[in-house]
Amino acid sequence: MIKILFVCLGNICRSPSGEAVMNELIRRENLQDKISCDSAGTIAYHEGNPADSRMKTHAIKRGYNLTSMARKFNEADFEKFDYIIAMDESNYNDLLSYDINNKYKSKIFMMTDFSTNNNFAEVPDPYYGGPEGFETVLDILEDTCAGLLEDVKTKLNNNLL
Ligand code: 4NP
Repeated sequence: MIKILFVCLGNICRSPSGEAVMNELIRRENLQDKISCDSAGTIAYHEGNPADSRMKTHAIKRGYNLTSMARKFNEADFEKFDYIIAMDESNYNDLLSYDINNKYKSKIFMMTDFSTNNNFAEVPDPYYGGPEGFETVLDILEDTCAGLLEDVKTKLNNNLL
């Protein structure tokens, strides 16, 4: 099983959406027994909360049901997951700073590393903005999760994980 963890700040907008978009792609290709997804935040503020209702509303319009409950990233996640994927530069730098012995750097990615159109350098935080920010998050995630799935499939096919 290849395990993917999506990480943002609060774990109520971007990373739950990444998880849902990726799960849909995995379901379409019937790869549920080979790839699993989870998400976490770098802060504990929203721990135990469902996804942001605005994010949920935008996601469901595209067929993604956000069901995750927020949790904070913890160090055991470095061992548990094969891909640990940051939504923005700040999440990425936080993850690197938790990896005090520089042991897990090869597992830590930016979501946009998997972009096929390279329109964005990161997935921008939509929390304090308007509705278009939530649409942008979903646009970027649909592109980058497709790229991520190709990367995972290549590794699966070559027994690299
Ligand atoms: P997320 O969005 O990191 O995509 O879940 C945010 C959620 C909460 C806050 C900021 C961003 N906040 O400041 O509480």
